[in-house]
Amino acid sequence: MNLRPATVVVESGRPDRTPGAPVNPPIVMSSTYVGHEQPAPEDLVYARIGTETWEPFEIALGELERADRPGLLFGSGMAAISAALSLTPPGGVIVAPQHAYHEALVGVRWLGERSGISARLVDITDAEAVAAAIRGGDGEAPADLVWLETPTNPMLEVADIAAISAVAHEVGALVAVDNTFATPLLQRPLELGADVVVHSVTKYLAGHSDVVLGAVVTSDDALFAKLRQRRITDGGVAGPFEAWLAVRGLRTLALRVERAQANALELATRLQSHPAVAAVAYPGLPDHPQHDLAARQMDGFGAILTLRVRGGAQAAARLTEAVQVWLPATSLGGVESMLERRRRWPNEAPTVPEDLLRVSVGIEDVEDLWEDLDQALRASQE
Ligand SMILES: Cc1ncc(COP(=O)(O)O)c(C=O)c1O
Repeated sequence: MNLRPATVVVESGRPDRTPGAPVNPPIVMSSTYVGHEQPAPEDLVYARIGTETWEPFEIALGELERADRPGLLFGSGMAAISAALSLTPPGGVIVAPQHAYHEALVGVRWLGERSGISARLVDITDAEAVAAAIRGGDGEAPADLVWLETPTNPMLEVADIAAISAVAHEVGALVAVDNTFATPLLQRPLELGADVVVHSVTKYLAGHSDVVLGAVVTSDDALFAKLRQRRITDGGVAGPFEAWLAVRGLRTLALRVERAQANALELATRLQSHPAVAAVAYPGLPDHPQHDLAARQMDGFGAILTLRVRGGAQAAARLTEAVQVWLPATSLGGVESMLERRRRWPNEAPTVPEDLLRVSVGIEDVEDLWEDLDQALRASQE
């Protein structure tokens, strides 16, 4: 049966239906497996190379991203990102958004220092600038890898995955998309032409702020083999319990995303007319610069918004200290609502405004979220 995503998250990756079988996958705590002089390719041999505990999540994620093969689970989103970035050949060119998860951009710069890879950071919403950066010309080489994150963290810019992938493929570049903010329920980059999808599973997919995990998905056999080898060699693997928790969290993904994005739209709409708010950005608001593109490309607008408070960075910081229901914390995509001022991180792009708060809307009662935000906004002005 061709199951719909809200069913896939519940059904996928379960043990075979035989009488007496558990309905949930077991956690297998073993670093190694009984060996054989000539193991078959599918044999489990050692838990850094592969374990049955990763498989349920990998199968489910592959199905959700509509990939031809299962995903590859990693020990963190950054381990997954590092593996995807390593597809760039030494001396190659990466085109990336000027705003993206800041450690991913640190990873791009670090590759530059170690492997002579050059980075072209662009406004990912400017189609001409992106195409020019991908094509190179005037003595400049074309791109080897286009890194996309859409919507971007934290600026919520939306990149046109299909259009950018078409240009990238003209010059033979790979396209990798960090799909963390959208989740495969709202956006499937492989269907839009991307070659690789990356997730911080830590966020929505696991969903409860209790694990750090990542994943990479591709339909391409050769890329899959390279990425899997990177996982084996770099060793950034997931523990069995974390992998099990990710499956457990995934079961409620559709419900969580549905509720969180309904809350986000309601809060974004109300915040627009709050006297203490200077600006709100949310792809679901009609005044978002890429609202139409987001409506075309995504099946929903997600649950992250940004907020600029009147009174600048100090007022924004006061807000984070005044909240009682919202958590002042870094991270996103959990059941609990969180916010933080992104520029408190030294590596955040200098073009991110000092007073910008990234707001991850959770699944609580929207009226409690609103009342708390309203009192904290008022407190920020005192
Ligand atoms: C969009 C995005 N990608 C990747 C990461 C990194 O993931 P992890 O913290 O699981 O390594 C983050 C973390 O905040 C993120 O927001």
